[in-house]
Amino acid sequence: MTETRPRRTLTNRNSWKTIRTLLRRIKSQSGTSEKSHPEVVWTTCKESSTTTETSTAVSIAEIQAPQVQKALVVARKGEYELRDDFPIPVVGDDEVMIRSYYVGLNPIDWKSVDYNFCLPEFPWVTGREMSGVVAQVGSAVTTFKEGDSVWTSTYYKDVRAGCFQEYVIVPSHTVLPIPSTVSFEAAACLGVAALTAAMTLWKWLGVPIPSTTTDDSEEQWLLIWGGSTVTGQFATQIASLSGIKVITVNSAETKALSEKLGASHVVVRDEKTDEELVDEIRQVTGGRITRAIDLVGTKTASLALDAVSKDAPVAFAPLAMMSSSHVIPENVIVHTVEMKQFVLDKGNVCYTEELGKLLEAGKLILPELHLVEGGLDVVQEGLEMLKKGNMKGKKLVVRM
Ligand SMILES: NC(=O)c1ccc[n+]([C@@H]2O[C@H](COP(=O)([O-])OP(=O)(O)OC[C@H]3O[C@@H](n4cnc5c(N)ncnc54)[C@H](OP(=O)(O)O)[C@@H]3O)[C@@H](O)[C@H]2O)c1
Repeated sequence: MTETRPRRTLTNRNSWKTIRTLLRRIKSQSGTSEKSHPEVVWTTCKESSTTTETSTAVSIAEIQAPQVQKALVVARKGEYELRDDFPIPVVGDDEVMIRSYYVGLNPIDWKSVDYNFCLPEFPWVTGREMSGVVAQVGSAVTTFKEGDSVWTSTYYKDVRAGCFQEYVIVPSHTVLPIPSTVSFEAAACLGVAALTAAMTLWKWLGVPIPSTTTDDSEEQWLLIWGGSTVTGQFATQIASLSGIKVITVNSAETKALSEKLGASHVVVRDEKTDEELVDEIRQVTGGRITRAIDLVGTKTASLALDAVSKDAPVAFAPLAMMSSSHVIPENVIVHTVEMKQFVLDKGNVCYTEELGKLLEAGKLILPELHLVEGGLDVVQEGLEMLKKGNMKGKKLVVRM
């Protein structure tokens, strides 16, 4: 059975205050914000409580605070179930409860269910990134208040943090304000692709953070195998901002996208053999690639290693998968990117701060969104679309 904290309803004094505050905030935000705030309806209210004057005037005694929520759970190995009686757990002292508005879908979501990993037990809730509104904060949280618009990136080991549920509870340091330049729906894709790209480059591959870049005398190359992947799109831009020359591998259809994002050269893979791809990369870069990321799989991870420098020190991050039997050249360090470190180690907040600065300054182009309406009912459908792998650079986001 799932290890659950003691169940608690939201009927204590603080929670009533929370509900009142939230309703007031929703009312004050409606129609006034520059961002698109979707209509909020507390589905568990006895009376329909919407964003109108009338609803906020409803006596608090008439409002039935939510105790259970809708969740898409992995009920058994490989099997989802949509539940409307999943408990809303307790918020810890240094934690934040976020009412989900948009959830971003990622390959890891279907992979973990299809191949049965990152599922500590059943039932479990998956989903790694979302944007929404703070519904409740723990007693020690001073950085956020109810009604704030936020995004987060979560760790699979806490079922309360799974994003395929209406209320998500996460540690406060993993909650970030939505930059003024970013829409609510686009903020749902920051938690995985954007943060992974930023941390992979800055923390693991030693790319200088743009504001600290000083030495541009030496030409440095980064190879991104999978330039049009959503993660690749962020990585291309972040590296380019630091003066790194980026070479990507794409289909012909997404070549222009990577060029627009700052790639110095795009190798079009259509109708080319593996040897031709590697030769082209080595020829364009003069065999001087010292950093590489693979975002496709074991075969391309291996090709990426063939394409990098043969003598200079190389830092390589195989983000999709890499065969453990692959012989690693002596000059290459393979980095295991552990995004859980963002949640487990508060010291990594510096990366979200830097990412926030780039976003706030409008320096990053966000991926084109493929927005799906229908909430948790359509998440499985969305994951099937992702599985086909033909999103062509678009990010799948579900409106809750
Ligand atoms: N370790 C981590 O924490 C972490 C974090 C984020 C992502 N990842 C992994 O990184 C991978 C990418 O994730 P994502 O969400 O960014 O991907 P995505 O956006 O779903 O990537 C889809 C794109 O991949 C491109 N692609 C397919 N085959 C390719 C090939 N042979 N060569 C080059 N590009 C190819 C396709 O574009 P074109 O056909 O136009 O080229 C397609 O549009 C996944 O395996 C994911 O699990 C890992």
